[in-house]
Amino acid sequence: MSDSHKTGPLKIAVAGLGTVGAGVLKLLERQADLIEQRCGRRIEVVAVSARSRGKDRGVDLSTVEWYDDPVALAAHPGVDVVVELIGGSEGPAKETVELALERGRHVVTANKALLAHHGTALAAKAEAAGLAIGFEAAVAGGIPIIKGLREGLAGNRVSEVHGILNGTCNYILTEMRTTGRDFADVLADAQKLGYAEADPSFDIDGVDAAHKLAILTSVAFGTPVDFKSVHVEGIRHVSAVDFDYADALGYRIKLLGIARRTDHGIEQRVHPCMVPKAAPIAAVDGVFNAVIAQGDFVDRVLFVGRGAGEGPTASAVVADLIDIARGRSTPTFGVPAAQLSEAQPSPMEARRGSYYVRLMVVDRPGVIADVAAAMRDQNVSMEQFLQRGRAPGEAVPVVLTTHDTEEAAMQRALATIADKESVVEPPRMIRIEQF
Ligand SMILES: NC(=O)c1ccc[n+]([C@@H]2O[C@H](COP(=O)([O-])OP(=O)(O)OC[C@H]3O[C@@H](n4cnc5c(N)ncnc54)[C@H](OP(=O)(O)O)[C@@H]3O)[C@@H](O)[C@H]2O)c1
Repeated sequence: MSDSHKTGPLKIAVAGLGTVGAGVLKLLERQADLIEQRCGRRIEVVAVSARSRGKDRGVDLSTVEWYDDPVALAAHPGVDVVVELIGGSEGPAKETVELALERGRHVVTANKALLAHHGTALAAKAEAAGLAIGFEAAVAGGIPIIKGLREGLAGNRVSEVHGILNGTCNYILTEMRTTGRDFADVLADAQKLGYAEADPSFDIDGVDAAHKLAILTSVAFGTPVDFKSVHVEGIRHVSAVDFDYADALGYRIKLLGIARRTDHGIEQRVHPCMVPKAAPIAAVDGVFNAVIAQGDFVDRVLFVGRGAGEGPTASAVVADLIDIARGRSTPTFGVPAAQLSEAQPSPMEARRGSYYVRLMVVDRPGVIADVAAAMRDQNVSMEQFLQRGRAPGEAVPVVLTTHDTEEAAMQRALATIADKESVVEPPRMIRIEQF
């Protein structure tokens, strides 16, 4: 179904009225005139669905039709667009989107989990039917990074995209650095303040950032969405002392998602990184997100903004609705789904770069020589070595950084070091990225 010829209102059905869904309804109401001016027609909500009908959502639902079942809502007659704001890669969200496409409705969604797992198949389905799937809100909330990459940088070959893709992690890491508190303590506070979910694992274990990275990779490189190839590590093992050492070494610690074209294929990884304090991304603190893209003609472009929350996410959802109302359409991931070209994933072991390693070792003669020997045996060259204070016979932290080396060699060296009887805790490693 194409709405480009239509001049009547764009009729939408909204499935999910939580933080994002209620935000979308508020924005559409408050900016109704502005939106009409910008796209020449109104956007009218005709039906909604959520679990509990009685809940006060701060929006007037008296004139819209209510559905208990979002999948039934997707089949509501006379709707142009179904907006899916439920969440989750399977279940009602997926069924709602699939039925909407089958019934010839465009889809707008903020659901990164759904797109990370099923993005390519859904894009193929939509494009075969001449429909759009808008997903600006699924990556970095209010930052228009999908449009930025897909449309703004459409004349470039993109070689790399990296960024801070999870505001909860960035908030926790920023608090740890500025207050010196430990991870568990800051996480508990973040939960009280509503910055972290009761079950925070998707955020702090890097899964949410990995969902977003998989989508960004597809848009940046014209490849099918390949979530299973993303290497994922979260921030649970970053300790308060790592921030002191990072500071002394000239770095900040950030959880980054990095997608890069390399000689080995396409690298996709999410893990804590040390970045030079002078790098623009190092200054992006708190709940803010940032994405940097490297294009061959444009060079480096930095996008910064709020990655979540009612207002920023609604802003992104409504931008997609306005595109549909205007009759503008772009292939979902920048090139038609049928032409997305499979690319070899580059294995994590092939990553080249430098490393920060923190060890707890018994302070006695010969221990450091053993560590150095394990590195030397793998051709890993050490750059700096820090030991603060002495406590003969006791466990003390020791920190080292390396010159550029291959991940596989680094992992072998760490495995040897971990086996030493004088090394009393598992070695902690943070990759250094020189942007
Ligand atoms: N929150 C953000 O800042 C943000 C940012 C970017 C993207 N997103 C994405 O946006 C989506 C929505 O997030 P959110 O934060 O708005 O979630 P949320 O506050 O938990 O809201 C989810 C909504 O879906 C409804 N729902 C859940 N299961 C349902 C079912 N089986 N049938 C019908 N309705 C159902 C809930 O109904 P009840 O209200 O009745 O319980 C609720 O209204 C997710 O994909 C999320 O990843 C969120």
